Amino acid sequence: MTERVLSGIQPTHDSFHLGNYLGALRQWVELQSTHDTYYCIVDLHALTVEVDPALLRKRILASAAQLLAIGIDPKKSTLFIQSHVPAHNQLGWVFECITGFGEANRMTQFKDKSQKSGTDRTVVGLFTYPMLQAADILLYQPELVPVGEDQRQHIELTRDLAQRFNSRFGEVFTVPGAHILKSTAKIMDLQEPTSKMSKSATSLAGVIELLDTPEANVKKIKSAVTDTGRDVTFDEANKPGISNLLSICSAISGRTVASIEADYVGKGYGDFKKDVAEIVTETLRPIREAALGYLHDEQALLDILSEGAQRAEAVASKTLSIVYKSLGLLPRS
Ligand code: TYM
Repeated sequence: MTERVLSGIQPTHDSFHLGNYLGALRQWVELQSTHDTYYCIVDLHALTVEVDPALLRKRILASAAQLLAIGIDPKKSTLFIQSHVPAHNQLGWVFECITGFGEANRMTQFKDKSQKSGTDRTVVGLFTYPMLQAADILLYQPELVPVGEDQRQHIELTRDLAQRFNSRFGEVFTVPGAHILKSTAKIMDLQEPTSKMSKSATSLAGVIELLDTPEANVKKIKSAVTDTGRDVTFDEANKPGISNLLSICSAISGRTVASIEADYVGKGYGDFKKDVAEIVTETLRPIREAALGYLHDEQALLDILSEGAQRAEAVASKTLSIVYKSLGLLPRS
């Protein structure tokens, strides 16, 4: 049987960024031809940050448009919105009831985010976020979850919860593995190359956005922070800026880092950055144009998502009813 894949992305910003694209979304597209793929816009997870309703609505639609624009094909993949399938919340609650408080408290993303905003401003939803994520995944019984490095711990927890449930209540869940591509697992911020590229960075100057204009992205790449020295060589410890650009260039061109380095022997950072800017913007230009095109027809987007929800719901509700039964909950007769 074809192996199944599930992954998700939050609609928390106006645009996805190059880290999302190289770290996860490109793999989503690739896996469509070999796997039975389920991709989810996790709008409920986006409620853990401050909500502006009009903006959230716009961003959910923009997320769908971008996923179609990068090549997610609704004929091959089930593309849907998390809140359209209530089983996510229902199974999330079950996982909250088998997760230890200490275990949840050890999630580094929770620790980082709650430390930044302080306990009083941290919502409980942020604490239970990983259990909802486990539900997103396990409802679909996938073998693989394509994500970037920052999701590794959440996938580990998901595996633990699946195994725990199976050993206490019977073999219900497939235990999934994270699918993380080493070379692009952590794309760094162009201005702060020791921090990952992130939508929540204080400044977007180092974040390449899929929906940004090519001109803006060229400017960001040309002003990327580089390191002392002038050789274009991969050395993460001493040259994090150049190494990040080399990883990006290699991922997009499909060439090895060594062969790119060889092109720049005797040349400087300026030439290299100019070429990286070109290759990145030429890759993103058609994606942006296609996404803007999809956004012109909101109804068509809603129709695709509605069909996706129907297909997702069929799988999810089946898993949920097995879970409830295994727990001893009575079916409604
Ligand atoms: P999110 O929305 O922050 O990011 C979406 C995907 O992009 C990857 N990513 C990166 N990869 C490489 N370098 C980077 N700088 C970078 N930044 C982000 C993320 O690892 C992710 O794969 N909790 C998840 C959303 C989620 C989910 C799920 C994922 C909810 N339910 C179920 C998989 C399965 C998140 O916040 O991703």
